[in-house]
Amino acid sequence: MMDSLPLTGIKVIDFTGVQAGPACTQLLAWFGADVLKVERTTGGDVTRHQLQDIPDVDALYFTMLNSNKRSLAIDTKTAAGLAVMEKLIRRSDVLVENFAPGAMDRMGLSWEHIHELNPRLIYGSVKGFNDESAWADLKVYENVAQAAGGAASTTGFWDGPPTISAAALGDSNTGMHLAIGILTALIGREQTGRGQKVSVAMQDAVLNLCRVKLRDQERLERVGYLEEYPQYPNGTFTDVVPRGGNAGGGGQPGWILKCKGWQDDPNAYIYFTIQEQNWARTCEAIGKPEWATDPAYRTAKARQPHIFDIFADIEEWLADKTKYEAVDILRAYEVPCAPVLSMKEIAYDPALRESGTVVEVAHKERGTYLTVGSPIKFSDFKPTITGAPLLGEHTDEVLLELGYDGDEIADMHAEKVV
Ligand code: COA
Repeated sequence: MMDSLPLTGIKVIDFTGVQAGPACTQLLAWFGADVLKVERTTGGDVTRHQLQDIPDVDALYFTMLNSNKRSLAIDTKTAAGLAVMEKLIRRSDVLVENFAPGAMDRMGLSWEHIHELNPRLIYGSVKGFNDESAWADLKVYENVAQAAGGAASTTGFWDGPPTISAAALGDSNTGMHLAIGILTALIGREQTGRGQKVSVAMQDAVLNLCRVKLRDQERLERVGYLEEYPQYPNGTFTDVVPRGGNAGGGGQPGWILKCKGWQDDPNAYIYFTIQEQNWARTCEAIGKPEWATDPAYRTAKARQPHIFDIFADIEEWLADKTKYEAVDILRAYEVPCAPVLSMKEIAYDPALRESGTVVEVAHKERGTYLTVGSPIKFSDFKPTITGAPLLGEHTDEVLLELGYDGDEIADMHAEKVV
């Protein structure tokens, strides 16, 4: 095991809020960076107060995105506050922000100025749209990005409206892209000695995850149909990628299938994939060995016109099996499948706890709370997840580190700079 975490010694100014920026800096903190969350003195990050489950205690929205950080509450729009920021910038390696377009410039902290203050500093920035976009001035939240990034138009069912995914494709996903960019820039700095600006637009990050849908647009324009979509061959295609419901996104058809108890349990389902190279064994698993050689079933092409009848037959087989029983049978035949898990099942899953993917952490005011730990596993270390800081919990500590003396700090408190 490593003596210290890989990012130990990397100082990060976390000038972020809501989810996209905080998710990025939280990841850097887990891996050892000293992440300092810089927040407004009046309430701090808005998520501290959003969807609170305990009155006047930091909301889970905040605590689940800001673990392993310290908090400095400071009014950066005062001269003294700006001076503190400039000191921080001079001694830090990374600054991350995801304010509305233009907010950093208005605060007197343009990229040019920051780069001048500390040419080695890496500046990570999240915006809704990239600089070339006609919408570059827009404020953007998760669902707006999913709409603009191609996810909404391709998610849901063909007879319903565009649909938003529950997964944070716009927010946390953009933060993960930014983390990759920042780490790349840190490695680049070893060669050049210089920092750089790393920008990720939420629209672009969503599109990066919708890559296969752009693939489908190109295929559609060439051949006029998409053979793995439920619309083929019995339905119709227009000139845009349709919503495919629960169809598989790759070459392997799949669907969400009902299991025993679906009438009462909204999650009594499995995802079932028909893997072409495993068709014979799949037929064996579901008690239809004859389908392996029947010309109407033998190939994907032959199956596609009646794929929903096939899924209906498989649902009949599933009718007396729970989702867990079904997966236990199917796994023996190497059928790619999984139960549809509720958040409750995930919260109490012992294996997810054991792996550290779901962790319980202590918080000064709320006791313990559950959060998602690192989904990235390393052979040399296991990140320890700690509770999120209270607003301004480390203000004085950080000011002392920056060289301010007790009187100066008292003045800043009196003048409401911190
Ligand atoms: N001291 C003083 N002022 C501060 C401060 C501090 N410590 N921290 C922030 N502020 C100010 C900003 O300078 C800004 O002031 P200005 O508007 O006068 O320039 C103000 O607080 C609000 O900034 P911001 O949080 O960006 O505005 P908002 O709450 O209206 O918008 C978003 C929120 C998320 C819509 C917007 O920040 C945005 O579009 N960000 C980019 C995309 C993004 O990350 N979206 C969220 C994904 S989770």
